[in-house]
Amino acid sequence: MRVLTGIQASGKLHLGNYFGAMKPMVKLQEEHELFTFIANYHSLTSSTDAETLRRYTLDAAIDYLAVGIDPNKTLFWVQSHVPEVTELYWILSKFTPMGLLERAHSYKDKVAKGIAPSHALFSYPVLMAADILLFDIEKVPVGKDQKQHLEITRDIAVKFNNEYGELFVLPEAIIDEEVATIPGIDGAKMSKSYGNAIDLFMESEKALQKRCNKIVTDSTPLGEPLDWRKCNVYAIAALFLDDEGKKALQARYESGQEGYGHFKKYLKELIWEELAEAREKRAYYLAHPEEVEEILREGARKAQAIARDKLVKVKEAVGLL
Ligand code: ADP
Ligand code: TRP
Repeated sequence: MRVLTGIQASGKLHLGNYFGAMKPMVKLQEEHELFTFIANYHSLTSSTDAETLRRYTLDAAIDYLAVGIDPNKTLFWVQSHVPEVTELYWILSKFTPMGLLERAHSYKDKVAKGIAPSHALFSYPVLMAADILLFDIEKVPVGKDQKQHLEITRDIAVKFNNEYGELFVLPEAIIDEEVATIPGIDGAKMSKSYGNAIDLFMESEKALQKRCNKIVTDSTPLGEPLDWRKCNVYAIAALFLDDEGKKALQARYESGQEGYGHFKKYLKELIWEELAEAREKRAYYLAHPEEVEEILREGARKAQAIARDKLVKVKEAVGLL
């Protein structure tokens, strides 16, 4: 089955991204034909300077490779390296009723957040449709906020197929309701915009410990049993543990012999250890950006071969060829 994931590169990744998006993706490549790209044309809609967009794009590639995206299993590229997608985007625009875009929540949300309203921001869902339809994708794992974009993609595909022949596969969203919302240091949803995130790659173990120490806990004094059910430290630590590990940690909370400081230290160890291999790989890629660029070029070459074939068919169907 062909599965596609689009990554918005917007700076440092955190544990919410890791458990909510990256780990599931790494698992998908074992079972499916995975297409993954860094959506830098999309990021351009909210970018303010060239250097940042360039850096975020390369950083995202490095981070995803570090956590286990395997270019031998996954077709991995940068969106703008396959510019065919913008050509399809224009053609699809003709099959996109204005009303469809006017109803899109994400445009309104972004404008409400202060991003300048532009045509690119408004037509963002059409480019996303092109990303998907260009590669005959069957499934697209997305968060709930992207569900409407998948519906728009299907609407555009149906309209095209009705008018010019069944050229496009109708993709389905995979929305994993199971993926828990990872809490941040204050217990609210971890998000880079809330300032409550624990970054995936901290500069040192000490810095990570400092961040873990900031996790909000209650003021039960040392020596009394603690309630793991209400504890943010436990909630994050549990993500790293199997059932046995969770039971053991619960017992430690209930024993009353340890305080939050001990558990924050334990959490730091869990995080540091989980990411040991990824950290090494990341350091390697940071020191060898030319290898990353080569991986991305090779991914783009393969993606482009597929994209060109599809685009010829579409252009023939509508009379551009
Ligand atoms: P942020 O809220 O920090 O801006 P993004 O919106 O860029 O994060 O998230 C990118 C991906 O990471 C999303 O697809 C989402 O599934 C996942 N993700 C982000 N934060 C969390 C979280 N707190 N819990 C679970 N998944 C998350
Ligand atoms: N809009 C998506 C997001 O913000 C990123 C994205 C761009 C995407 N094109 C896509 C996701 C195609 C899935 C399929 O997360």
